[in-house]
Amino acid sequence: MLGTRLRCGFDLNRVPLVTELPPARRELIERHLIALPPDERRLRFAAALSDDALRAYARSIRFDRDAAFGAFDERLDLVGFGHLALAGPEAEFGLSVLPSARRQGLGLRLLLRAARHARALGTDSFLMTYLPENQALRELAKRAGMRIEFDAEGPLARMALPEAEPDALLHEAADATLTGLDLSFRLANRSAKQLTSA
Ligand SMILES: CC(C)(COP(=O)(O)OP(=O)(O)OC[C@H]1O[C@@H](n2cnc3c(N)ncnc32)[C@H](O)[C@@H]1OP(=O)(O)O)[C@@H](O)C(=O)NCCC(=O)NCCS
Repeated sequence: MLGTRLRCGFDLNRVPLVTELPPARRELIERHLIALPPDERRLRFAAALSDDALRAYARSIRFDRDAAFGAFDERLDLVGFGHLALAGPEAEFGLSVLPSARRQGLGLRLLLRAARHARALGTDSFLMTYLPENQALRELAKRAGMRIEFDAEGPLARMALPEAEPDALLHEAADATLTGLDLSFRLANRSAKQLTSA
């Protein structure tokens, strides 16, 4: 972690990083969403949103109330993004991983990270938009212990969240600080490498 290389020579910078995103990363979120192919935008938002609509959505994320999580690959591209909306009694989570980064466990890591955050804030239910043709989400939800349910608005994936440990919020803050620092180190490391190779 924190931009280090282990003594055995294994470079931890090559391990994808999952971290909470601050408002300063809004532009990366926008770029990530616009890179999603149209049919996947529909699976994500239940509508194939245009580029402009995705920009408007990224601009509308309330970082003061909600939480955003990102997965960065070795090149520090934002290959996975999750938005945890905390407006009502139930947390709503939207998730996307770029096709090039699929089946590496990033979707599951982002989902479990967001569920832990919602739980730490005292939320007891966690929902995701689910279209019946979304086989990937159906399988992912099963892996995460979610259930597919039907309510008035249609099918959705739901997870009941148990009560959090008393120090859960402290763990959340520590995770956000450490992984945020890790990202800053990796970005600085990359800039230094670019400068020396120029
Ligand atoms: C759904 C999505 C987020 C999954 O992301 P991912 O990073 O590929 O998922 P993971 O690698 O974490 O998968 C974890 C497990 O979920 C299941 N899974 C994921 N994608 C699957 C697929 N296409 N087919 C079958 N099972 C799948 C598998 O059990 C997988 O474990 P395994 O690879 O060890 O077999 C991604 O496909 C996506 O962005 N889809 C478009 C947007 C979307 O549908 N969002 C959800 C609605 S908000």
